[in-house]
Amino acid sequence: MANDTTTMVIMGATGDLAQRKLLPALFELRCNGGCPEDLRIVGFARTKLSDEAFREYMWKGVQDFGVLAVHKDEWDDFAQHLFYVAGSLDEEPDMGKLKNRLETLEGPEAGATNRLFYLSISPTLFEATLTNMKATGIADEHDGWRRVVIEKPFGRDLASAQALNRTVHNVFREDQVYRIDHYLGKETVQNLMVFRFGNTMFEPIWNRHYVDNIQITVAEEVSVGERAGYYDQSGVIRDMIQNHLLQILTMIAMEPPSGVDADSLRNRKVDVLKAIRRWTPEEATKNAVAAQYEGYLNEPNITTDSTTPSYAALRLYVDTWRWQGVPFYLRSGKSMADKVSEVIVQFKRPPAVMFGMETDTDLNPNLLTMCLQPDEGAHLRFEVKVPGQGMNMRSEDMEFHYEEAFPDHAIADAYERLLQDALEGDPALFIRSDHIEEAWRIVDPLLEAWESSGALKPDRYAPGTWGPATADALLAENGHTWITVCGQHDDDA
Ligand code: BG6
Repeated sequence: MANDTTTMVIMGATGDLAQRKLLPALFELRCNGGCPEDLRIVGFARTKLSDEAFREYMWKGVQDFGVLAVHKDEWDDFAQHLFYVAGSLDEEPDMGKLKNRLETLEGPEAGATNRLFYLSISPTLFEATLTNMKATGIADEHDGWRRVVIEKPFGRDLASAQALNRTVHNVFREDQVYRIDHYLGKETVQNLMVFRFGNTMFEPIWNRHYVDNIQITVAEEVSVGERAGYYDQSGVIRDMIQNHLLQILTMIAMEPPSGVDADSLRNRKVDVLKAIRRWTPEEATKNAVAAQYEGYLNEPNITTDSTTPSYAALRLYVDTWRWQGVPFYLRSGKSMADKVSEVIVQFKRPPAVMFGMETDTDLNPNLLTMCLQPDEGAHLRFEVKVPGQGMNMRSEDMEFHYEEAFPDHAIADAYERLLQDALEGDPALFIRSDHIEEAWRIVDPLLEAWESSGALKPDRYAPGTWGPATADALLAENGHTWITVCGQHDDDA
């Protein structure tokens, strides 16, 4: 009887991502039964390597970057399913060579031959790669499913993203396309859905009547380091805000979807993006701050007069019935004080009169903080009475930590979940073409304002800090301050 086979083809297989993330995740999936046992992985890249040398290279990645303890005998078995083809993505005959190798590996007796293509390649190669995939018929769907996973950056702006969508749709139907944002594979990001919709107590107050402002921070301690060449062409808006931070925002602001199926979920997210107030380039600069850490210009591969921001802070408004008037503050940067990703919902202050205080601002607001990483969990801050005479108050946190609650469940890497979903054909945690385009529509005016000739002079911030003073001033305009809870820093009010 003919056997069905599944092959994952990694285009750009000698890159950092394959070694650090994809292979460790695939190996772990294989160890815990999350992928077909006979899943075959074929690497494709320009470097000349034998199958054996490719296996060695990946073995190093699994040992250095895997989450689980590695068992060599399991690896030896898994490694037999790894193959490598050397060639250029922009050479049609090389793509033909890859196709032939796939057919040979699948064998003449194969039943359905499913293929998942993973494009972990430079955006400059997208066009040529997809054209050659079309020309060789490697992705023709006649004897099994074909899917494609596309890494970010998906375009540089709205126009290039739309052009790329058209190119992709020449080869793949939208339902075959899995645009990846690894933040969606993080347990704690998925937990935002459970937190909001798996509980009754938060949803009634999740709106403009009770919420004062929302802050989303994704801070990194690392500098641009070895990725400077790529980063200098992108900057923080393209690298983090257009994708990861806007994804988090949609999950915080969305209306309840009718289910967790891909379309219900993704429709509600797109609704949020469409409701984000559009800026003119002039308004954009009044609602955002760009900054570069001191020393950025001395990093290798950075042009000496680069104005690329390594930090940005934004004030956005979601003009819906639920969120009208509530500022959403987003900030992200490299070389900051700590590596921490968190969402803080700051509630309105209660009336202070009954405690004899003069103004409401004498009372601290309640905070609900979702710690996305590294100390995954949640904090709920409220006021308690200090024991003793009088009515003195103090803020205290009620805390939940994943590590304590689930000591036997290591939090898997985001890629593990996402690769499993792509292999199983569940696109719920991947980005639809309309979402990508809406997200660009939001940041495009800002990029335009900052990048039009000579327009942007980024502010400076000292490495190891929380960013420039201008970002504090942005919030001060609304009487707010940045808050950090998860990293246990006390720079909040
Ligand atoms: C990537 C960015 O998408 O996300 C990197 O390109 C960034 O610049 C990384 O460092 C952060 O991911 P994580 O999972 O470490 O928060």
